Amino acid sequence: MLTLQQYQEKALQGGWALGHFNISNSEQLHGIMNAAVSMKSPILIGTSEGERKFIGLKQAVSLVRAFREETGIPVFLNADHSKSGESAIAAIDAGYDSVHIDVSHLPYDENVKITNYVREHAKMTFRPDIGEIHVEAELGLLLGESKIQKETIEVRPEQYTKPEEAADFVKKTGIDRLAPAVGNIHGIPANEKKIDIKLIKKIREAIPTPRIGITLHGASGISDNQIVEAVRAGVNNIHINTEIRVVFVRALKQTFFENPEETTPYKLYSEAIIAVQRKVEEKLKLFGSINRI
Ligand code: G3H
Ligand code: ZN
Repeated sequence: MLTLQQYQEKALQGGWALGHFNISNSEQLHGIMNAAVSMKSPILIGTSEGERKFIGLKQAVSLVRAFREETGIPVFLNADHSKSGESAIAAIDAGYDSVHIDVSHLPYDENVKITNYVREHAKMTFRPDIGEIHVEAELGLLLGESKIQKETIEVRPEQYTKPEEAADFVKKTGIDRLAPAVGNIHGIPANEKKIDIKLIKKIREAIPTPRIGITLHGASGISDNQIVEAVRAGVNNIHINTEIRVVFVRALKQTFFENPEETTPYKLYSEAIIAVQRKVEEKLKLFGSINRI
């Protein structure tokens, strides 16, 4: 199996992106893995701090590892949006394959310092099964939450990542992936999301390629056209959470509604697992990541 770094470089050279899908439970993971198997796609599974508190750090690691061994799919577990060095390190120590340190709300120098602290710890932890722990950090302000929102959310250009700052940040931190703010918002707000494709290109030109990945967070609800353009501009890792949550919960509610007497959990969850699989298959096709193993 190739490493995450090797897949990231392959994606950039081949003009496609790795899909990163968040989970809150093992049923969603089942649906995502079914899609990865049917599409023969390498993928990342993400858990935010809330999601991994619910599943359990060790439990998430064991589940993903079991799927990797059983299916042969290159699936990597990412500690998504770790809001402190301690939280990122706890995930690394529990066996996560990748970590996303998200302290871009702090002053720039603090962000650099904490990211370096996490990167040093990650790189000391070599894992024979997957190689080096991969490190992502964030620069710029990403607004919103992974849910359907009634309000509009506007991102002001001054909150976007500046290409020259991205270059300096990558040099000072030695990270493997950068998560920039390029008009992306978490969740699905009332207004349409508009991604600054030119800015992605400028950031890509400013940072050393192809070693450093560019991640597009908040990709739920972004139009297919913009996703394709973002990948062309240099994005090689795309995060989806809200759309998975929505199809999962809608299917579950429908099942409860249609089968009020049913009490067998695996029967109640089966349609929701299929709904997640279909949604992830759709995204994997869009990202161009089918048949990439
Ligand atoms: O890190 C997670 C993603 O950025 C999720 O964004 O809820 O818009 O899909 P989303
Ligand atoms: Zn995100």
